[in-house]
Parts: sequence; C-alpha cells; structure tokens
Amino acid sequence: MERYKGKTILITGASSGIGEEFAYQLDKLGAILILTARSEEKLIEMASKMNNTHVIAGDLSTKDFSEQLYNQVKKKRLNVDILINNAGFGYSGKFLDSSMENYEEMINLNICSLVHLSHLFLKDMVQNKKGGIINISSLASFQPIPYFGIYAATKAFVTSFTLSLYEEYRHKNIHVLGVCPGYTKTNFNKRAHMSSQTVPGYLMTSKAVVQESLKAYDKGKFIIINGKINRFVKLFTSIIPQKWSLKMASSIIKKGLDNNQW
Ligand SMILES: NC(=O)c1ccc[n+]([C@@H]2O[C@H](COP(=O)([O-])OP(=O)(O)OC[C@H]3O[C@@H](n4cnc5c(N)ncnc54)[C@H](OP(=O)(O)O)[C@@H]3O)[C@@H](O)[C@H]2O)c1
Repeated sequence: MERYKGKTILITGASSGIGEEFAYQLDKLGAILILTARSEEKLIEMASKMNNTHVIAGDLSTKDFSEQLYNQVKKKRLNVDILINNAGFGYSGKFLDSSMENYEEMINLNICSLVHLSHLFLKDMVQNKKGGIINISSLASFQPIPYFGIYAATKAFVTSFTLSLYEEYRHKNIHVLGVCPGYTKTNFNKRAHMSSQTVPGYLMTSKAVVQESLKAYDKGKFIIINGKINRFVKLFTSIIPQKWSLKMASSIIKKGLDNNQW
C-alpha cells in the first residue's frame, strides 16, 4: 500500500484500540504521523517506538481543542494529507440512567469534534487539490439501537455526513471513506459498560478492522462495513421490518443489562 508512504496522517483517539492500531500499521507503511488523544504519556511512549511521529495531546470533547490542534499542526509546519477521525465512545443503559453531562461529552466528541476537524483540515486539502478523510463510524449507525440510543444516533450522523462529504468533494481529488466496524475488541466495551459475552456473531480484532479499512481507502471505496458477519447483519436488518430489527437490537442489549453484564 504505497499510497501511505511519506503521507502526513493525523489520527484522533490514537492512544488505544482501533486508533492505536492505525498508528502502528501506518508507521510500518512509512507514514508521518500526528497522534492525538488525552493520554499524553501513552502517545509519547508509542511515538518513541515509531519512525516519524508527532504528539499533540488534548480533550476533543471540549469546545476549543479542535482548533488548538489545527493551530499546533500548522505551527509545526505540517500539512495533513489524511485525517482519521477515530476518537469516540459509547454508553449502554436506559436513557434516563446516565447524565446529560455524559451524553453531551459523547455528542461533542463523536459528532462536534469530527465535524470541526473535517471543516478545518478539508479547507487546506481543497486548496492543495488533494487529501482524504477517514471517519470511523459503526455498524450501529445503520439502525436505532434501544439502550444504546445516543451512541447509535451519533454514529448515524457520522455515516450520513461522511457519505455526503464523499460525494461533495470526490471531484476535487479528495477521498472520503466511512469505516463501520461491528463489535471489536478494544477498551470501548469497558467504557460503554458492555461485555463481549452476550453479543452474537464474533468480535473482530483492531488489527483486522484496520487492515480492511486501509485497503478500502487504498481502493477508493467510500464505505466499508468490516467483516463478513457484520455485512450480513447490515443486510439482514435492512430487509426485515423495522419493528423486528428494533426488537432484536433491544433484546440483545437488554439481555446484557438485565444480567448486569454491561
Ligand atoms: N470497539 C468497538 O466495538 C467499536 C465498534 C464500532 C465502532 N467503534 C468506533 O471506533 C472508534 C475507536 O474506538 P475503540 O473501539 O478503539 O475504543 P477505545 O479503545 O476506547 O479508544 C478510543 C480512543 O478515543 C480516545 N478518546 C476518548 N475520549 C476522548 C476525548 N474526550 N478526547 C480525545 N480523545 C478521546 C481515547 O483516548 P484517551 O482516553 O487517551 O483520550 C482512545 O484513544 C470509536 O469512534 C468507536 O465509536 C468501535
């Protein structure tokens, strides 16, 4: 995948899971990396094992950090070729069982920072007549998921926005890809209060998700649902009546909640 060699790639949420895996795979492919997340020490440790990596730590759920990040990238005289909007988190539980602070943080991170960073970096890409954005959405973006409702809705936004951006900017030599993983083994599940045990199908590894996603971007695809089983789930839930798919999603998540497994 020569496409990534020498390219400057900004990865949000690079300190663990899928973002961390993007960082290691892209480093091996010869990219120049800018890593961001809140865990500065972890990012510095990662960068020390890589070839050409910059660290700019901060909290993307706060209003100002997207712009600060952009300004720090400019200060370092770096020009981002590919932006990977990966940082995100979820919460599973009854809607009223979590606070507005938690939901606002999720919406700010999963939606607002992704839109803000896209707005800032895409302008430069259009000026340079080249570039790309990879937005990490989710299989959860394709249908409402009771007891996981705010998260699924944030990801519905991400998929919808990403596909629109793809179509708007593809004639300007800007490539936009939406990545939709299903259940993947990372720290996400702990923060979302989810256990791997009650989810049918299989857990993918970050490694497999990232390999498939980088190939999809390389081939110029605009959306990738990672893994065969997840592609089948998307197809199945889109052809059955919505009432059934809602019931199915609800019973899977509720079973976990009732068993105190997440
Ligand atoms: N795992 C799954 O099953 C799954 C499935 C579908 C989609 N996804 C999506 O994949 C993406 C990556 O998640 P993951 O599974 O790799 O989870 P993860 O291991 O929990 O990683 C999440 C990353 O986001 C960063 N992050 C969290 N809050 C942040 C904040 N306020 N500001 C800046 N960075 C923040 C974390 O770093 P710090 O804590 O250091 O800030 C971490 O690097 C997310 O968008 C998630 O929605 C995951």
